[in-house]
Amino acid sequence: PVEIFDLVIFGATGDLARRKILPGLYRRYLSGQIPSGSRIIGAARSAMDGAGFRAQVAEAIEEFVAADKRQPGPIAEFLAMLDYVAIDASGEAGWSELKGLVRPGLIRAFYFSVAPSLFGEIAERLHLHGIADAQSRIVVEKPFGRDLATARALNATLASHFSESQIYRIDHYLGKETVQNLMAVRFANILFEPLWNSQFIDHVQITVAETVGVEGRGAYYDKSGAMRDMVQNHLMQLLCLIAMEPPYHFDPDAVRDEKLKVIRALQPVELTDVVRGQYVGSKGEGGYLEDSENPDSRTESYVALKVHLANWRWKGTPFYLRTGKRLRARTSEIAITFKEPPHSIFDDAPGWRENVLVIRLQPNEGMNLKVMIKEPGPGGMRLTQVPLDMSFATVLGAEGADMPDAYERLIMDVIRGNQTLFMRGDEVEAAWAWVDPLIKGWEARGDRPARYEAGSSGPEDALMLMHRDGRRWREIS
Ligand code: BG6
Repeated sequence: PVEIFDLVIFGATGDLARRKILPGLYRRYLSGQIPSGSRIIGAARSAMDGAGFRAQVAEAIEEFVAADKRQPGPIAEFLAMLDYVAIDASGEAGWSELKGLVRPGLIRAFYFSVAPSLFGEIAERLHLHGIADAQSRIVVEKPFGRDLATARALNATLASHFSESQIYRIDHYLGKETVQNLMAVRFANILFEPLWNSQFIDHVQITVAETVGVEGRGAYYDKSGAMRDMVQNHLMQLLCLIAMEPPYHFDPDAVRDEKLKVIRALQPVELTDVVRGQYVGSKGEGGYLEDSENPDSRTESYVALKVHLANWRWKGTPFYLRTGKRLRARTSEIAITFKEPPHSIFDDAPGWRENVLVIRLQPNEGMNLKVMIKEPGPGGMRLTQVPLDMSFATVLGAEGADMPDAYERLIMDVIRGNQTLFMRGDEVEAAWAWVDPLIKGWEARGDRPARYEAGSSGPEDALMLMHRDGRRWREIS
């Protein structure tokens, strides 16, 4: 269990709190990780009392927690930990009441599950009213800026009230079990690290494919697009974990220093190495333009790009990144394709293929290493590729199938005071510094994204991005 804490959630009636944060906290309570003396205080604009809030949370649990985990006893105990205060982020209402609810001497965390435009006002009022102290932690959600300038301004605002060690910038991809597993696989085995460089790795593919569109979030998404919404944060974090040097210790700054070096080594991307796409309706389903409600939108719902790192380890190994909405399947995976052996003694044996290590982030989390063996049977020396398969659900049983949601892990890290899986301010700024010129480049060109059918694998042009290098994307399935 973690220590007893007071957690204040600003934006407690919002979508993220309802879907992820509150159900996640309930599950952690059920697993015995949250001591019952802790208190979770919802804060939002709606006029409501504690009972009203508890009723809302009960509904959220009903909707977002699996039936076998919805036990009336624990639910009632969990709800008893909740309180609510109606608060005006940019006015005076509610703040002194909030001050009366948090208890001295305990871990105190504030979750800013609100629009970034409110971060500054909330931070300021927490100080003004003496609600936050030097030990308090704040958790902030993405989007963390929309370019380098806005990210810097946001960092500066937060820095005027909190030190870096108090600020937890969430990238929920870092809380995914398999993403953390990347570090374990790389740095707890001797097997991979000696091969983990451009001498032995031909290329890396990082895919985050979604089947959902932007329905309901059109207003936000249309100002963002796949590059800002997914690449600048989630895909870059994955890239960092794959490409970084071994940190000297699994310690927040040691890990984040190494990630930062990766971001800084990223080469500027040529516009010819980027494909932007936008889905069009198919089989009765609407296209992006309907979903976003901007009939002339040039926002990309898909992006694929080829990226190079200028450092000793990776010079010459391209990283291909792609992400998109309304694709054929929901798949997130990292595939590492190794080079050919230096010499083949099986010259005339058909069937040879490269070794590929696939790290599957979701769904069906696990790892799969494709190796060559002799095709069984008397037919002479023919080769065939077989998977060394480690699906978490199979190897780890129920535990593997029932992994905590990314938010659960991350919120508990906030309470434990562990920043390893949170982005540091300089990391976020470096990521924007790399992304900005690319976005400016295509905005200046002003062209429309390529079209792809909803339910397809993305635009044709993205296939070309790899074909012209003599490589191909893995199937999205
Ligand atoms: C969010 C993006 O950060 O991540 C969404 O804003 C996206 O557009 C989501 O759908 C994907 O997260 P997950 O955990 O479903 O892969």
